[in-house]
Amino acid sequence: MYDFAIDAADTAALYHELGQALDALTADEPDAIANMANAAALIWQYLPDLNWAGFYRALAGDVLVLGPFQGKPACIRIPFGQGVCGAAAATRQVQRIDDVHAFPGHIACDAASASELVVPIVHDGRLLAVLDLDSPTRGRFAPEDAVGCAALMAILAPRIA
Ligand code: SME
Repeated sequence: MYDFAIDAADTAALYHELGQALDALTADEPDAIANMANAAALIWQYLPDLNWAGFYRALAGDVLVLGPFQGKPACIRIPFGQGVCGAAAATRQVQRIDDVHAFPGHIACDAASASELVVPIVHDGRLLAVLDLDSPTRGRFAPEDAVGCAALMAILAPRIA
């Protein structure tokens, strides 16, 4: 197993260190599933206060399919436009939701989830997947988390294409 000495003083430094670790983990591996699995494990290990971290893949048609993740077993297929993940897929825009219970159509895979961050992963104009992070704390995800996770997914995108 890989251990990373991630001990950042602030959020920006944390994402910088996570980016270095993600780059090292995925640089020489061409398999998309392996790279998503290690990315989910890395994020789960080092981002505090999460109850779910993982990927939904855009394989064919307007539906997302569950990919590698950490946390409780989850909903398997999410149509584009449904819930927070489906909104991210349909709009290709980051969804940073402070209170998921106030989000129309939120899909409650885990009743413990209170806030959510979903980052679409686009490469060469194609939507490959979305990163989905859930937290039991309302308002867990700050704008810096959206920026940091988008930077992580920019590293990962060509390695899951
Ligand atoms: N809550 C998500 C569904 C996925 S689970 O949280 C893992 C949504 O509304 O898209």
